[in-house]
Amino acid sequence: MYLKIIIFIAFIKFIRNGDCQIHEFPSYFEFGISTSAYQIEGAWNEDGKGENIWDRFTHEYPNRIADRSTGDIACDSYRQWENDINLVKDLGVTYYRFSISWSRLLPTGFSNKINPAGVRYYNNIIDKLLQNDIEPMVTLYHWDLPQPLQDLGGLTNPVIAKYFRDYAIVVYTLFGDRVKKWITFNEPWSICLSTYENGNHAPGIAMPGIGCYLCSKVLLLAHAKAYHAYDKRFRKTQNGIVGITISTFWYESKTLSEKDAVATERALQMNFGWCMNPIFSNKGDFPKVMKDRIEFVSKSQNFSESRLPTLTPSEIKYIQGTYDFLGLNHYTTRFIEEGNLTPSQVPSFDDDVGVKMEVDPKWEKSAAHWLFVVPWGFRRLLNWIRVKYNNPLVFVTENGYPDKGELNDEARIRYHNQYLTELLNSINDGCNVQRYTLWSLTDNMEWSSGYTLKFGLYYVDFNNSSRPRLPKSSASYYKGVINNRSLPNFTNC
Ligand SMILES: *[C@@H]1O[C@H](CO)[C@@H](O)[C@H](O)[C@H]1NC(C)=O
Ligand SMILES: *[C@@H]1O[C@H](CO)[C@@H](O)[C@H](O)[C@H]1NC(C)=O
Ligand SMILES: *[C@@H]1O[C@H](CO)[C@@H](O)[C@H](O)[C@H]1NC(C)=O
Ligand SMILES: *[C@@H]1O[C@H](CO)[C@@H](O)[C@H](O)[C@H]1NC(C)=O
Ligand SMILES: *[C@@H]1O[C@H](CO)[C@@H](O)[C@H](O)[C@H]1NC(C)=O
Repeated sequence: MYLKIIIFIAFIKFIRNGDCQIHEFPSYFEFGISTSAYQIEGAWNEDGKGENIWDRFTHEYPNRIADRSTGDIACDSYRQWENDINLVKDLGVTYYRFSISWSRLLPTGFSNKINPAGVRYYNNIIDKLLQNDIEPMVTLYHWDLPQPLQDLGGLTNPVIAKYFRDYAIVVYTLFGDRVKKWITFNEPWSICLSTYENGNHAPGIAMPGIGCYLCSKVLLLAHAKAYHAYDKRFRKTQNGIVGITISTFWYESKTLSEKDAVATERALQMNFGWCMNPIFSNKGDFPKVMKDRIEFVSKSQNFSESRLPTLTPSEIKYIQGTYDFLGLNHYTTRFIEEGNLTPSQVPSFDDDVGVKMEVDPKWEKSAAHWLFVVPWGFRRLLNWIRVKYNNPLVFVTENGYPDKGELNDEARIRYHNQYLTELLNSINDGCNVQRYTLWSLTDNMEWSSGYTLKFGLYYVDFNNSSRPRLPKSSASYYKGVINNRSLPNFTNC
């Protein structure tokens, strides 16, 4: 009898849900919140911290930052870290993703000199998180390279890969007894393009069509060295996992034509695939379509060889498979057509990709010129990753919405609710997504946009020297989602 009732109930549930098997986030699924060191810490020259490229860039070129601001004080999280952890705790998340400032720990960038105040600062944060049952998830490199390493050429000099490994070993040694989730780099594509292609980010080097490719090879080797170091020396005793965070747009073909489909695939491979393929594909190496394209264009421009460096067979082998999970940052989508973006420099990355990118005028805008609200792109992306890369374990490490700082931030709530709806749909589709990390805890120093763009669940008054924090409506929305493990208005699948 009982069995019949149970079968009947299961049958009714099946009918009612149709394709949509789950309406709630599965029990393994975790919610988190993220920040990065330069954007929140401040105290840029205190307690022995060394200078990094963002300190130098904002001080030397104030006109390169939208509001001529710096991260000298930022959210003052160097002092207010305890308060910030209380905000994290109040949200009910199970983990906190933050980054370590390389130059706060190693003031010169080199591992021969460790700054005790830096060690104390991160120990305090990690210990307080654990006391509150919040897991630390730590990014090693979130864009703030020590200036002395930049003086050697930064991520275009292969020797930096070794110094990154040395830094990683110091971090594992100091904190790995308590930190079990490591992210080596945050967003290779943004690092290499913003730093060495267009120079919009520190240190502001514009070497279009050249610098970004050199950077990508050094970055991949640095990542792989840090991964292998963990594998060899720490994994057995510390038992943690190591991944990398890769960001990407979703690209959707504008038409059903073959040539636009080919262009769209090329755009995806040259954005996401660029660093995804070498690490996560079975064969490794840069995507073939990317290698062929850049070689062809380079030769036609009379370069003696491709501007994309070659990965040797042993390098390919060394990089391939160096992941325990994929960290994914995703914000928005573009339509793609075959044909050149105009006007574009030659040579340049955009010229090499050689596609037209468009937005739909109907898409909802945000305060950032580049971010349009396109929730369905998130589901397409997650499914594309599932199919192309053999359904890897995915932690969404960033997703967020910029506005001007409204406390009643309805647009942010709508954005997250729609993107989370598509994430839940993608779990129903079979994608192995196990974490969602909202960007960001507080409003902060948004790089070249200074304090003009706000992604926080908590408002920060940057005109007040004590930097008071105030919860926005989105903070209670996120709390509700985490607490209920479900989404308001989740009906369609
Ligand atoms: C490459 O060199 C050839 C032969 O000297 C010349 O005709 C052609 O214009 C050059 N192409 C470019 C893009 O400079
Ligand atoms: C859910 O739907 C209601 C009614 O349409 C709407 O008022 C509310 O803003 C929606 N909530 C979210 C988070 O989208
Ligand atoms: C400080 O206040 C002024 C006036 O209200 C405002 O325009 C400016 O954006 C504020 N600056 C910051 C960094 O919040
Ligand atoms: C600055 O913030 C502090 C702490 O919240 C508050 O007591 C003070 O009134 C604020 N000052 C101004 C000028 O708003
Ligand atoms: C969570 O559930 C409570 C109680 O059912 C409801 O009032 C609240 O609106 C829900 N919040 C969210 C964000 O789903």
